[in-house]
Amino acid sequence: MNAPPIIELKNISKRFLSLQALDSVDFDLREGESHALVGENGAGKSTLMRILAGIYNEYEGEYLLRGQPVHLQSPRDALNRGIGMIHQELSVIPELSVAENLFLGRQLRNRLGFIDWKRMNETAHEELAKLGFEHIDVLKPLGMFPLGTQQVVEVLRVMLSGAQVLIMDEPTSALSPAEVERLIELIGTLRQGNRSIIYISHFLEEVMRVADRVTVLRDGRKVATVERQATNKDELISLILGHAVETAPPVATVESNGHRLLEVRDLNADVFTDISLNVNKGEIVGLYGAIGAGHFDLARAIFGMYRFDSGTITVDGKTFPSVFSASYAIAHGLAYATESRRQSLFMEETIFRNVMMPHLKRIGMMPRANYELEMARPAVRRVNVQPPNPENPVGKLSGGNQQKVVIARWLAYPPKVFVMSEPTRGMDVGAKSEVLNILREFRQQGYGLLVVSSEPETVLAVSDRVMVMSRGRVVAEMVNKNLNKDALMRLL
Ligand SMILES: Nc1ncnc2c1ncn2[C@@H]1O[C@H](COP(=O)(O)OP(=O)(O)OP(=O)(O)O)[C@@H](O)[C@H]1O
Ligand SMILES: [Mg+2]
Repeated sequence: MNAPPIIELKNISKRFLSLQALDSVDFDLREGESHALVGENGAGKSTLMRILAGIYNEYEGEYLLRGQPVHLQSPRDALNRGIGMIHQELSVIPELSVAENLFLGRQLRNRLGFIDWKRMNETAHEELAKLGFEHIDVLKPLGMFPLGTQQVVEVLRVMLSGAQVLIMDEPTSALSPAEVERLIELIGTLRQGNRSIIYISHFLEEVMRVADRVTVLRDGRKVATVERQATNKDELISLILGHAVETAPPVATVESNGHRLLEVRDLNADVFTDISLNVNKGEIVGLYGAIGAGHFDLARAIFGMYRFDSGTITVDGKTFPSVFSASYAIAHGLAYATESRRQSLFMEETIFRNVMMPHLKRIGMMPRANYELEMARPAVRRVNVQPPNPENPVGKLSGGNQQKVVIARWLAYPPKVFVMSEPTRGMDVGAKSEVLNILREFRQQGYGLLVVSSEPETVLAVSDRVMVMSRGRVVAEMVNKNLNKDALMRLL
């Protein structure tokens, strides 16, 4: 396909103080094309797209829209010209209904000028049904739905506002495999309407399915733009990393000595039923489920952040009371990482404050900057946060680097048992394998880990045992040895 470019970016450079986020990048988008943008965490993908979508308007270089030089003033300006962006971090309003979120900022009105709720609700339902989400009650507050659903609503919102060019910044990082399939189908449908799509993703399999062309960024520079048909996943990985793929050395599994670190017995809550599971010393248990399976809420419950009705939680021999707080859980040797970065990080605060946040009680609530810094620095270095200055605010890190901060928290004061929901969400191939290695090291050192995820690859890469949850129940439990992605997904 060689349609004329609808957008051309030439020689784009962008600095944040001393940091050169983009360095003379060229990028073009053709009409009706699906163009993937890939690269390591911090490579500059989101920054380039924020320029394209009018969010950043201070930059060097040229921006041509249908051949005409433009300088977009704002996201609104971009949208008026048919360019819409779906962000890496969700920007929906949880208190508003699904329908209200879909029509945010552009409510439908009737002839008399009143807001036409009936038509908005109906349209919302119809549009969601087209994507296979007819079961979503559009009158309910969006915050009640799983992150995956909230993401779908966000995608749909930008589409409905008439965007001809749709930028998706990691749209599938919170979606279940089934939802990913639907989104990919949807992208196919959109393109038939001659829309152009820019697709940022760390999932190269998706990229290979969705994209016509792929542009690779590394350290703020454009490395290559390749036709999908002329490339493959391995080539993309070496373009992204700048060197050939290193397969991680196999880590010897330690024989668990059977010492039980976490024991969950017959736990019941509104969204899960009769859950029993154990994690032993030196063992990684994977808890896999589709979005909405109840596994993320179970993880929250184990940490005292989701109310359960009956059952017990025991950590290293200590049975918790039926109601307890997160700080009680921490004090008794548990650590938890949520699947939602936005909920767990304080974007305005520095990296080191964020790392130390769960431990403040232990070290006294008064901020003691130097002490915190000293405790946090090795952890930040260990997970390789880029840029590595712990005094930067977390909000200025790229998405994948924010996720590393979540992991770094628990390096400062390791607990006995880690419960980690989506530990590698949003990470590039390199960072992902680094974090998976950190998890394996924890196992080696005798900690117990419960890795809760909707990404089959993550679960399979580290678990000794895998438990599968579906509709709030454990439906299978297996030793990882004979499992593969297909087998796992069939168990859902
Ligand atoms: N508002 C900001 N202020 C200062 N530095 C920033 C800001 N936004 C991004 N950066 C820096 O610019 C670089 C590029 O960040 P960007 O968010 O574009 O990366 P990315 O390719 O989207 O990464 P990821 O895959 O992790 O989302 C990073 O080093 C990041 O820390
Ligand atoms: Mg990004």
